[in-house]
Amino acid sequence: MRTYTIETFGCQMNEHDSEGIAGILSGLGLSPVGSVAGADVVVLNTCSVRDKPHRKVYSRLQDLRQAKKRRPELVVIVAGCMAQLIPEEIAAKAPHVDLLVGPGSYARLEEALRGVLGDERAGRRDLLELCAPDSSPIPYARAEAFRAWVNVMFGCDNRCAYCVVPYARGPEVSRRPEAIIEEVEQLAREGVVEVTLLGQNVNSYGRGLGGEPQPRFPRAMDGAPRRIGRDESRPYTASVRQWPVDFADLLERVNAVEGLRRIRFTTSHPKDLSRKLIEAMAGLENVCEHLHLPVQAGSDAVLARMGRGHTAGQYRELVRAAREAIPGLAVTTDVMVGFPGETEEDFGQTLALFEELRYDQAFMFKYNDRPGTPASDLPNKVPEPEKQRRLERLVSAQNRIAREINEERVGEEFEVLVEGPDEKTLGQARGRTRQNKLVILPGDEGLTGRFVTVTVRQARLWGWIGERQGTGDG
Ligand code: SAH
Ligand code: SF4
Ligand code: F3S
Repeated sequence: MRTYTIETFGCQMNEHDSEGIAGILSGLGLSPVGSVAGADVVVLNTCSVRDKPHRKVYSRLQDLRQAKKRRPELVVIVAGCMAQLIPEEIAAKAPHVDLLVGPGSYARLEEALRGVLGDERAGRRDLLELCAPDSSPIPYARAEAFRAWVNVMFGCDNRCAYCVVPYARGPEVSRRPEAIIEEVEQLAREGVVEVTLLGQNVNSYGRGLGGEPQPRFPRAMDGAPRRIGRDESRPYTASVRQWPVDFADLLERVNAVEGLRRIRFTTSHPKDLSRKLIEAMAGLENVCEHLHLPVQAGSDAVLARMGRGHTAGQYRELVRAAREAIPGLAVTTDVMVGFPGETEEDFGQTLALFEELRYDQAFMFKYNDRPGTPASDLPNKVPEPEKQRRLERLVSAQNRIAREINEERVGEEFEVLVEGPDEKTLGQARGRTRQNKLVILPGDEGLTGRFVTVTVRQARLWGWIGERQGTGDG
């Protein structure tokens, strides 16, 4: 029997796409293995959002070149955002790649794989078209039995000045609610208790489903992404939606699916986060008390240059409204330091916003020039050592805040969904609260997928060490 392995870089969408690729490969009779050494087919599912994952992929491709010299029958596939954005560069640097497949083409991957896996080796193939969502359902080989990712939309219609995602993933397209509900119902029947609804900008879910015209942008199908600015006709719109089904409506329908206990979603964009959605989160019992709301910067001048479509004040107001409506809400964020032109004062505003809003967790990045994005053309680049200093200052503030927040809850009880044994400590399991806080508790494999009540005993930067009270899934 032939074997495959998949190495995944990037975001949760890529993780979930890898489950789709795994499902397709398994459907063709291949079985998964843990490493390249034992694999006949290697898939690199790539990310372009920053330079680091690019470099890692090229370094993996060098290793695979060596492996392929020893084993010419080895099949090398590059999937994901890099494949979509820079197929020619990859092919030039890594001529041993057999198949390049972009994130919009997985619905057609099976037929391409049959070709690549066949005896007739026809040289490199490219699969870089966008297929209609739901056109050909992908048989996901999901990594876990108790929780699952579910795509609700593909692509992104925003043009944040620093970001390659819209060029890699294409324009925003929402899946039909019926298709989503059918998938969630099926998952719940199979025993899934937690779903995470995925989209680059879930708050604009539903736009286009009523047949109204959608904003459309030119896309780069090969080479570097095209240089296009933000669509100024779409200002800050955190108000009432006009399309027939919006994200709040979708949440309500998912909430009604029997058997599910937890609903999560990512990512929210502040400019599209409506009051209606905050109310839905507050009122729907299965929707978890966790909002991931990327802020990116605390300075209005920087936010404007990023093309985010909102001010720091509007963002602050959203977080306040959400916290007021949803007791116990955890708020997490993404942020960047050193965007072109960011002054010490601008950065000070980011720090101050962090001190004020007190995030439970933050993903903090140094701004990274991405070829072809509008931000890469901006003047006044912040030197690398200065970016590093700002990152360290922000990380140290955020670490202190997270630890303080976690300390405050010692002694309280939480419902934890156990994810599996803790890799680091024998006899310990890891799980998450509804707020997505990581908890380490006594337990073993047998607890995986079960709900337990935990009393928090010790606070850490990353979460809590807890003591088990009993199982809550009867
Ligand atoms: N769709 C999501 C996130 C997309 S990428 C959103 O709108 O928030 C995930 C995170 O990577 C972003 O939130 C941003 O903080 C970071 N990121 C994106 N482009 C980057 C760049 N050029 N340099 C550094 N970080 C970047
Ligand atoms: Fe990138 Fe902005 Fe779209 Fe998020 S909303 S994927 S940061 S362009
Ligand atoms: Fe990376 Fe593509 Fe996700 S660029 S962050 S894998 S959408």
